[in-house]
Amino acid sequence: MTPIYVLTNNKGGVGKSTSATNIALGLTALLRQAGAARSKVLLVDTDSQAHATLVTTGSKDYSADNSLYGMLMADPEEAVQMLRNSIVSSTWDDNLHVLPGTPQLEQAERELTSIPGAPYRLADPLAKIAQHYAAIVIDTRPSFSLMTEMALVAATDAIVPVEPRYLETVGLLSVMSKIHAIRDGWRVPNLKVSGILVTKMDKRVKGHRYLLDELKASKQLGRLLCGVIPMNEAVSYAHHHHQSIYAYDPKATASDAYARLVSRLARCVHQGGVA
Ligand SMILES: Nc1ncnc2c1ncn2[C@@H]1O[C@H](COP(=O)(O)OP(=O)(O)O)[C@@H](O)[C@H]1O
Ligand SMILES: [Mg+2]
Repeated sequence: MTPIYVLTNNKGGVGKSTSATNIALGLTALLRQAGAARSKVLLVDTDSQAHATLVTTGSKDYSADNSLYGMLMADPEEAVQMLRNSIVSSTWDDNLHVLPGTPQLEQAERELTSIPGAPYRLADPLAKIAQHYAAIVIDTRPSFSLMTEMALVAATDAIVPVEPRYLETVGLLSVMSKIHAIRDGWRVPNLKVSGILVTKMDKRVKGHRYLLDELKASKQLGRLLCGVIPMNEAVSYAHHHHQSIYAYDPKATASDAYARLVSRLARCVHQGGVA
């Protein structure tokens, strides 16, 4: 089964888009290098701010007919065709495909609220093309809105990026219980919280070190820690240039941390799922 990772947290600015884009590229590059039978990765942008779309394709100018919005609003019989028509190749790598997000996704939430089965409008068409991809990575908006619910219903593995700050880590438990509520409420037993990813970690800050240690020591959360991404200004510069962190500066500390996270995930992809 193709793993479908969703990067989610209702807090903004925690590194969801940075992580989704660099995980997606890292996976496709690593799988190709390893000679895997399938190495294409699809990045799905469910955020109306479309940052992931902008940095990976260099454009934000997608219309209803060639973006996620069109697929969500299409009749269910036409949704797969709309999906196929909307996918573009990333400027980062031909094997990284992108289903673009647009500002209209904001209105899609309102338009779909009253439609029965709305939470499955992403999961159903994605399931029909998933076998073409080694993995699918979904970026989400900073809220547990209908759009994020759709992303979670489609996913197999939730990864929660979090900054090492007190209130952020306190919020972690509520993020996890929200994910579990969606899993149980919409009956998606395949969905699990597979990782907590600490982002913007500054080792010089005592509070950061303290919170990371607390997280590691936590019975419930410690075993879920899947990576620590350092605070690194190369990340912002990479965004500015619409580049991945690996292309912008392969020697940057964040490049190394994302590469390590990706090789962990890639091993799981090879094995057919996250343990
Ligand atoms: N490891 C990092 N070090 C420094 N800045 C980062 C790092 N990760 C993300 N950022 C910056 O933080 C901001 C928010 O990141 P982003 O990935 O857009 O978060 P989200 O998608 O959760 O809103 C961006 O300006 C980004 O460049
Ligand atoms: Mg984002």
